[in-house]
Amino acid sequence: MSRFEIGEQDFLHDGTPVRILSGALHYFRHHPDQWRDRLTRARELGLNTIETYIPWNAHSPARGEFRTDGILDLGRFLDEVAAQGMWAIVRPGPYICAEWTGGGLPGWLFTAGAAVRRHEPTYLAAIQDYYEAVAGIVAPRQVDRGGPVVLVQVENEYGAYGDDKDYLRALVKLLRESGITTPLTTIDQPEPWMLENGSLPELHKTGSFGSRAAERLATLREHQPTGPLMCAEFWDGWFDSWGLHHHTTDAAASAHELDTLLAAGASVNLYMVCGGTNFGFTNGANDKGTYVPIVTSYDYDAPLDEAGRPTAKYWAFREVLSRYTDVPAVTAPPRTDAPAFTAPLTTVAPLWDVLDLLGPEHPHDHLPTVDELGRFDGFALYRALDDVAPGVLDVAEVRDRAQVFVDRAPVAVLSRDLGEHRAVLPHGGALEVLVEDQGRVNYGPRIGEPKGLIGPARVGAEAVTRWGVRPLALDDVTALTAHVRDAAPVDGVVAGPAFAHATFDTPDPDADHFLDTAGWGKGVVWVNGFCLGRFWSRAPQRTLYVPAPVLRAQGNDILVLVLDTAAPTVTFVEDLALGHTEE
Ligand code: GLA
Repeated sequence: MSRFEIGEQDFLHDGTPVRILSGALHYFRHHPDQWRDRLTRARELGLNTIETYIPWNAHSPARGEFRTDGILDLGRFLDEVAAQGMWAIVRPGPYICAEWTGGGLPGWLFTAGAAVRRHEPTYLAAIQDYYEAVAGIVAPRQVDRGGPVVLVQVENEYGAYGDDKDYLRALVKLLRESGITTPLTTIDQPEPWMLENGSLPELHKTGSFGSRAAERLATLREHQPTGPLMCAEFWDGWFDSWGLHHHTTDAAASAHELDTLLAAGASVNLYMVCGGTNFGFTNGANDKGTYVPIVTSYDYDAPLDEAGRPTAKYWAFREVLSRYTDVPAVTAPPRTDAPAFTAPLTTVAPLWDVLDLLGPEHPHDHLPTVDELGRFDGFALYRALDDVAPGVLDVAEVRDRAQVFVDRAPVAVLSRDLGEHRAVLPHGGALEVLVEDQGRVNYGPRIGEPKGLIGPARVGAEAVTRWGVRPLALDDVTALTAHVRDAAPVDGVVAGPAFAHATFDTPDPDADHFLDTAGWGKGVVWVNGFCLGRFWSRAPQRTLYVPAPVLRAQGNDILVLVLDTAAPTVTFVEDLALGHTEE
């Protein structure tokens, strides 16, 4: 049992001044069987603490549910942190940003009418349940009960969004009532008004930034006159978005900033120490006028790359950290190439042939959003229940990408980011629209917006009001994979929308693999039922990360949702390819 406090000048561990040298590692972005490896690498960098957000919407896909299986086993993760002899910082939000879909806020909050990120009863009642579930895991693992957790953060960069102090006070009360006893912190970008709006006197303020450390610490000090200075997100890289370049920061320059921070006596949390992957449909999006979804990789140009391997930045940071702390010996295996080989895609089933395996269609007498159907990610197939005449299909908005079909023939693709919401239907017939939620906005006022086709819809002057909507159930693709494995043989380039399948053996099932998606257009991939995430020829990201624990030596199943077209080959390459950089 020990005590962790915020003193007049320092963090105090059993009364002794300590400095937090932390790295952000999101358990939900790494295969659980790789947590120990990533944590070991982080400790050997010279860190004494691991920080993680908690993504409410991943744990609670539906109200009343709180999942902790597999990649969501926060208790196991914190136990692994403790086993490394490290402390933990936990950031349960409720809002987390993090380039995570919806910034972590569950979609069902909004359909229940909650007004988020302010003092509002529906929202606060849901948070109470959530905090209780979180505390069930975190409270017994706090440092005063023999566990690793030393700090808990309230909200996230709240000052950039709102100034409702009653809301912040309610969060503090709910956390305390749930059994959280650690000191509580807030984080804000070091702008005076954000630091002012985003916190309370009883919360310890920290900053988020990646450069101009001395200046930013001075601003933070004006708003947090006592106690330790902490950069609780030292941005050592940056995230990537579809259609933009792959972001990198210079290792030496970033290490120099870290040195400035540490020389000033500050505590730090490297954001990120190892970014990992937005597996499945978990990536968020930004919208500051144009909708821009985040890519699948969350490599972040962090000291440990997407596959957990030390980069030049790792060695540069380790050298800096060694001037301030005892850095343990490194046990990371030498970097080797991943196995490179190909396998043919062998069988394919058109989407239309497997609809029965993808969940029921729901009839409506109006055009519903997918949120109305209780689905908050992935794809939905909209079908007009009455045949339409030739003309112009016009919907209010597409969120976020719609493939339009008449009598199952493709006629148009509408992209939200291009402002497209109309399509010419060259002939009449059965109208179907396959809509992709490309990731929910995670920052700013558009958080919580529903997805799907946003009505009203018309063809010419005629309102289209009767729709059947089938959200594609893709959480468990076991039956689908078995079906596609026995479907028709692939003959040349695969034409979507379809599911294609290959079986492959690997010479090294203990190695991570990198799937090169260069010959493919847009879609989603599963390996042995594990969803690697989305691919898109739009760039920058080219490879999908395949964690070794999902592989076996022989008979691996790969299932590809091909939205447009795909070359009939599965290609694994030696290394990550995250795309072109700005230079
Ligand atoms: C802010 C947020 C983080 C993340 C970073 C950018 O600091 O607090 O969640 O979104 O920006 O990566």
